[in-house]
Parts: sequence; structure tokens; C-alpha cells
Amino acid sequence: MIKIAPSILSADFSKLGAEVQRVVAAGAEYIHIDVMDGTFVPNITIGAPVVKSLRKVTDAVFDVHLMVEHPETQIKAFAEAGADIICFHIETAKHPHRIVQEIHDAGCRAAIALNPGTSLAMIEELLQDLDMVLIMTVNPGFGGQKFIASTLDKIHMLSHTIHDMGYDCDIEVDGGINEETAALVTSAGANVLVAGSAVYGAPDVQKAIAAIRAAEQP
Ligand code: DX5
Ligand code: ZN
Repeated sequence: MIKIAPSILSADFSKLGAEVQRVVAAGAEYIHIDVMDGTFVPNITIGAPVVKSLRKVTDAVFDVHLMVEHPETQIKAFAEAGADIICFHIETAKHPHRIVQEIHDAGCRAAIALNPGTSLAMIEELLQDLDMVLIMTVNPGFGGQKFIASTLDKIHMLSHTIHDMGYDCDIEVDGGINEETAALVTSAGANVLVAGSAVYGAPDVQKAIAAIRAAEQP
């Protein structure tokens, strides 16, 4: 089953609650929340207090994408604020296995993100404990960038490994996802699609979400 996760990075921050409700009403299963610290990536975006406020306006799954150094310091705050899935970057973690345990202990699903330049080998030993892997299809930091096609092989390889090993692990993709690229990533094996500008930039968000979902390949 394909799940659509609109990224609120492309939403109007002056009315975030309504922006979240609008995409949930339009059929989105997840709300993708991009947390940036100005160090791991250049921007600074939103923190746990904003997540706590948004938690009051919807029951949708909150998919928190931490683009921060020292992610282990943030787990408790985001879990308490109402995150359902907490994802950290393998490039930021000295003890990734421990962070996965901490996310689970906090009652959340655990995910690890890989930049386009990072090999799957970095998470091989962690895969059996993960609920989701996020394959970045752009370099993190900004919405509206162009999809990097060389990430398709990585999605494909990961999908085969998960299948062969019998793991229960979703594959999420993030960056440059639209109707066209959605078809490519779903045929490579991705099942959770983040889309920022393709959803919030569209005149009709319901149509945009439906079009991305319909790009699923048989
Ligand atoms: C990029 C963020 C993405 C971003 C995606 O660093 O992680 O979630 O919002 O935006 P689009 O879909 O516009 O590429
Ligand atoms: Zn993201």
C-alpha cells in the first residue's frame, strides 16, 4: 500500500494547523515534518513545540524527519510532542543502534535516512530493527529540488534485501517526488512517498495527492 506524506516545509507557516488539516482531508496518510538545525543542513525550521501544537489538530501519522546533529538529544522531546515515526540521518549518528532502541523505548516507530551519497552498507546491521528506511532522493536542506535518478538503484537494492530477508520495513523516499518520479520510485520498491512542493504548490491538493498515488506501478 502506497502512503503519501506531504512535507509541511512547503506549506504556509503562518497557518500551519489549517495546512495540515487540508492535506489530511485530501487523503494524505502521513504528515512529514522536516526538522533542520542549521548545522547538519543550512536551514533552521521547526522544533518539538510546533509538533506539540499540530498534534492537537489531527490524528494523522506524524513522520518526523530529523536533519540535525546529535539526534539522540531530540528523541524524548519529539516523542512527547506526539511524533509517531522518528527518523534520523545515519550520517549524524555515532551509535545508531542505540538511537533506534531509544526511539522504540519512547513508543515511536524508528527510521533511518540515507543521503544520496551514502551507501546502504551503512545500515545493513540495523535493518532488522528498523520500521522504515528513508532514501533521500535529493540532498537534504531545501524543498523544490530536482530528483536524483541515481538513487533508484539504491531503492531497488534495498527493496530486494528487505524482501529476501523477510523484514517488515517500509521504504520512504524524499525529494523531488511528483507524478513522474513517483512512478519510478514505486516501481523500484518505495511505498511511502514524501512530497512537498508537488502537493502544497499545486492548485488542487486533492488532485495532486491522487495523481502521485496513481503513479503506482503494477
Ligand atoms: C528536504 C526535505 C524534504 C522536502 C521535500 O531536505 O527533507 O522533505 O520538503 O520537498 P520537495 O518534495 O519539494 O522536494
Ligand atoms: Zn524530509
